[in-house]
Amino acid sequence: MCGIAGYIGHRQAYPIIINGLKRLEYRGYDSAGIVVNDGRQFGLKKTKGKVSDLEAKCKDLPSAHVGMGHTRWATHGVPSDRNSHPHLSNNEKIALIHNGIIENYDSIKKVLISKGFDFKSDTDTEVLVNLIQFFQDSENLNLTDAVRYALNETIGAYAIAVMDADDPQEIVVARLSSPLAIGIGDNEYFIASDASPFVEFTKEAVYLEDGEMATISLHGGVDIHKIKDNAKVSLVIQELKLNLEEIEKGGYDHFMLKEIHEQSQSILNTMRGRLLVDEGIIQMAGIWDFQEKFFNAKRIIIVSCGTSWHAALIGEYLIEDLARIPVEVEYSSEFRYRNPIIGEKDIVIAISQSGETADTLAALRLAKEKGAFIYGICNVVDSSIARLTDAGSYTHAGPEIGVASTKAFTAQLTILTLIALKLAKHKGTLSKERFNTLIAELETIPSKVEALIKNVEEPVKKIAENYAGVNNFLYLGRGLNYPIALEGALKLKEISYIHAEGYPAAEMKHGPIALIDENMPVVVIATKKGHYDKIVSNIQEIKSRKGKIIAIVTEGDVQVKEMADYVIEIPETSSYLVPILSVIPLQLLAYYIAILRGSNVDQPRNLAKSVTVE
Ligand code: M6R
Repeated sequence: MCGIAGYIGHRQAYPIIINGLKRLEYRGYDSAGIVVNDGRQFGLKKTKGKVSDLEAKCKDLPSAHVGMGHTRWATHGVPSDRNSHPHLSNNEKIALIHNGIIENYDSIKKVLISKGFDFKSDTDTEVLVNLIQFFQDSENLNLTDAVRYALNETIGAYAIAVMDADDPQEIVVARLSSPLAIGIGDNEYFIASDASPFVEFTKEAVYLEDGEMATISLHGGVDIHKIKDNAKVSLVIQELKLNLEEIEKGGYDHFMLKEIHEQSQSILNTMRGRLLVDEGIIQMAGIWDFQEKFFNAKRIIIVSCGTSWHAALIGEYLIEDLARIPVEVEYSSEFRYRNPIIGEKDIVIAISQSGETADTLAALRLAKEKGAFIYGICNVVDSSIARLTDAGSYTHAGPEIGVASTKAFTAQLTILTLIALKLAKHKGTLSKERFNTLIAELETIPSKVEALIKNVEEPVKKIAENYAGVNNFLYLGRGLNYPIALEGALKLKEISYIHAEGYPAAEMKHGPIALIDENMPVVVIATKKGHYDKIVSNIQEIKSRKGKIIAIVTEGDVQVKEMADYVIEIPETSSYLVPILSVIPLQLLAYYIAILRGSNVDQPRNLAKSVTVE
């Protein structure tokens, strides 16, 4: 939620910041703004809308070597010019950009108003910038100290960057619960919510930890201190693994389509170095080193949100079925607030593409406090969740930029399959032969994904043309395909704005069947290995009520083909692996319907890629 980017050095700041904001736009796109300091004064532009709208307004921005910009996902105050960042202090000497929420902004605002401050926006951020001015004026502090004093008065979450009009030589940054990376170049520095804005300039970065702030200047470098007590923190420089091609569209119209097409490769990357079929092993240090903990665990609780929660549901089926360890799946947001019973014999696994989702992070912190062993399944390397957990496995799907999660989901399913199989093998709940058969089948999945996309893209486009105009969709599946029904419905609603519901097929007769008439398209995942006969009966029930059936079936299917209005075939595979394939036509269906409806698929309305607020 919200992206921040900044630069200080010998190059022109504006192009670096504006390109950086474009790369961070996945984090929010309600408004955008930029401030530079040309050595004499601030030049500031901001606007409701996208970074491209900001760009159009920046023609007369002064040339400068220091500046910072923001792309906003609105929390406090509607998307508008005046609520856009950067915000200026009353004396117009301090500029601030912010990702997060200042929870006690209201009480601070009242105090500041009583001291004569006034406010031009409805944001919590403007309160913080004025609080900094207040400390600067009343205590005669430099910018760094004034920022520290102000942050010690606030409650909430933030990644901020602050500039002083009178000092064009420095930017002050700080973080608590929202990410902030500092790129270190040759006497130049970059700041950003993630490393993508500066990947072509430097491979060296410092990630601020929670509760840290840094003063970044050309004469002093990066000087990090604790916000609470000003204790000095030593610099830990990390090498970035990201490269530029990974964050560009590579000839596709949208990141989402690129990411759907990347799945055979991303799944391969998830398995690389882990799945060693010839040796008959799965190599995963995070599991191997702690396998006794897993075997002795009272239960595993998986916390996550959105698409990652759907992956968790599949993880529950896989781990319970294969490794016979009890698993519970919870929405992170519910888990953290319901006073759950967690103990030292519990393992809490967080699944998160971004590794920054605020609710999942808070759920993990709670589990850690209560003594549970915490394990992370994240895509973004060095993300907050990855750093908080005791152990974990990266999905290695590569950067996912489209707001709708696609390749991160299939990578999560791949990791969960590897974990379930590895635990099952070592626990002895799966025979060696069966294990070897399953890992050999898993190895074929990337090529099956590639063939599947090639075969189904055109037929899916035709189906999309027929249904792009409807207002409702139902998705049904059973067993491992039930979470896929949920995921198919989520994909459609988030990018096409069509109301869609996913259900376990057998639940239909307990209510949703009342919705079925000749206008209701029902996507049924009816693969051979997923309770086929039962789902065939469900299809009959829909047919009898004139519903339109779009069925996902296994190659060579005869029975469902005769009943369905449209069928999409997926390759034959083990029942445990079907979800990795059955979700792909649903991703494509959502994509092509959304395109026909004219939606912005990469940046759907009201959403952001990384939900770093509650
Ligand atoms: O980064 P995370 O996996 O923690 O994100 C969780 C959800 O916000 C995310 O999956 C969201 O539901 C996606 N937009 C779905 O496509």
